[in-house]
Amino acid sequence: ADSTRAREIAALDWQSLQAAVTGCTACGLCKTRTQAVFGVGNPQAELLVVGEAPGAEEDRQGEPFVGAAGKLLDNMLAAIGEKRGERVFIANVLKCRPPGNRNPQPDEVLQCAPYLARQIELIRPRLIFAVGRFAIQTLLQTDAPVGALRGKLHQVNDIPVVVGYHPAYLLRNLPDKARAWRDLLLVQQRLRELAAT
Ligand code: URA
Repeated sequence: ADSTRAREIAALDWQSLQAAVTGCTACGLCKTRTQAVFGVGNPQAELLVVGEAPGAEEDRQGEPFVGAAGKLLDNMLAAIGEKRGERVFIANVLKCRPPGNRNPQPDEVLQCAPYLARQIELIRPRLIFAVGRFAIQTLLQTDAPVGALRGKLHQVNDIPVVVGYHPAYLLRNLPDKARAWRDLLLVQQRLRELAAT
């Protein structure tokens, strides 16, 4: 049944994908969410930012990264000349908020993964910027620690992926900001190179 569902999602266009996410009842999170959070920005974005899951504010507003971490993400994007809604799309691995912001559970990821996969196929971004251990390990299907994955280019379905610290983590860990800046410069540099080819 799961693979039939994944195949159906893989055939949806942007609008029906959005409708499917909005009405999704595939896992228990539909019972505790206020609303599903599809993502925000340009459906033809050059850069796709992928985070973990909606938090309280995202659940309330229906938009990813609108709380304190979101403000920092906006500033991080501004630092490399990017802006929410322009050449960027912002999404999460999970479309619904886990209660109390607990970690996503494997069955929730399994049920929700086809949505992000289809978003990636339809957007066809030049580059994906995965932020935080959860999004990184889920997207790249690895258990490797983030420290071992930073600073180089990865791939998901032929799309280059840069990994970086989650803005919520950066809000608490001052010394990592220099490293976060290097991740952002890698994003900017790759976008420039990819735009030139
Ligand atoms: N953290 C995330 O990973 N995603 C959001 O949308 C908000 C906070």
